[in-house]
Amino acid sequence: DKGTYPFYMLKEIDEQPNVMRKLSQVYLNDAGEPVINDDLMTALKAADRLYIVAAGTSYHAGLVGAKLFESLAGVPTEVHVSSEFAYNQPLLSAHPFFIFLTQSGETADSREVLLNVNEQHFPSLTITNVPNSTLSREATYTLLLHAGPEIAVASTKAYTAQIALEAILAKALGVATNQPAADDFDVKQQLALVANGMQALVDEKDTFEKISKDALLNTPNAFYIGRGLDYAVSLETALKLKEISYVQAEGFASGELKHGTIALIEKDTPVIGIITQKNTAGLTRSNLQEVAARGAKTITIVTDNLAKDGDTVILPAVDERLTALLSVVPGQLLAYYTSLNKGLDVDKPRNLAKSVTVE
Ligand code: F6R
Repeated sequence: DKGTYPFYMLKEIDEQPNVMRKLSQVYLNDAGEPVINDDLMTALKAADRLYIVAAGTSYHAGLVGAKLFESLAGVPTEVHVSSEFAYNQPLLSAHPFFIFLTQSGETADSREVLLNVNEQHFPSLTITNVPNSTLSREATYTLLLHAGPEIAVASTKAYTAQIALEAILAKALGVATNQPAADDFDVKQQLALVANGMQALVDEKDTFEKISKDALLNTPNAFYIGRGLDYAVSLETALKLKEISYVQAEGFASGELKHGTIALIEKDTPVIGIITQKNTAGLTRSNLQEVAARGAKTITIVTDNLAKDGDTVILPAVDERLTALLSVVPGQLLAYYTSLNKGLDVDKPRNLAKSVTVE
């Protein structure tokens, strides 16, 4: 039931702070230590490389997760689009462990990979929102997202739930393998900060509706740019804008823009820069200046500690590894308001189904 909300998508965006709190309750004890099934931890510890396999928004959550597993648990991690992996399996490490990210647990492309993985007798984990879903039943292990039903076709709370759970799992694996970075990472405190930060953002809906009206409502195209984790979020926010508002949007590695795509920048082309990583903040700002000099309408989404005068959206500061959980929210709301004010069916965009059960 969507209650007083005009669309499920807005309700689901608003539920994200509570989803963060719920994951803390389910997977962390009072001391803030992860509580994860022993057999799953043993299998993870035995792996020399993690392979995250997923489609669409879940793939984008995997891109963030890989950084978490590498930085907190020190384990090399690859992320693959399931429809590609299924018929072009890369050379695997000696002891691979597979993580399937799938909100629905029914995505045919991801299932095809899982069937191949099972034939090769490799261990696997499905992270899903749906208990007893196909990928949950067929993987060795399952962890549930506890995000509550996601009805809108455009995925929002499942994305942030996937990232939060990857952070918890990466912390668990890092602690189990004595990684100093994991010991220093207070995942419970950070998820509490994230929940409060998300709440502050969803309480600012008018700001995002205004930015949408100023920059996105009447544009044929738009770019999200960033580096590293900000690039990963750019891909997700561009997908949101495409699928529900039908604006041709691209997420781009900001350093790559000048190698060709900058030719598309015209007067008033919206370019939204995501800036949450200290080591690349200055570079992304230079890239924004380059497009502004060619007429682009630039918008910045920046964490508090990196903010400058004139920035458009300021995000509360959290651990740099978790900024995706906050920087995605403005992108979700910008997509929502652009779709809404175009008079589109936000929850049921054309040509799309909630769960894609064909390859
Ligand atoms: C985008 C979206 C899709 C799904 C993709 C995978 O908003 O919802 O890109 O993320 O179809 O679905 P799951 O996660 O159910 O495997």
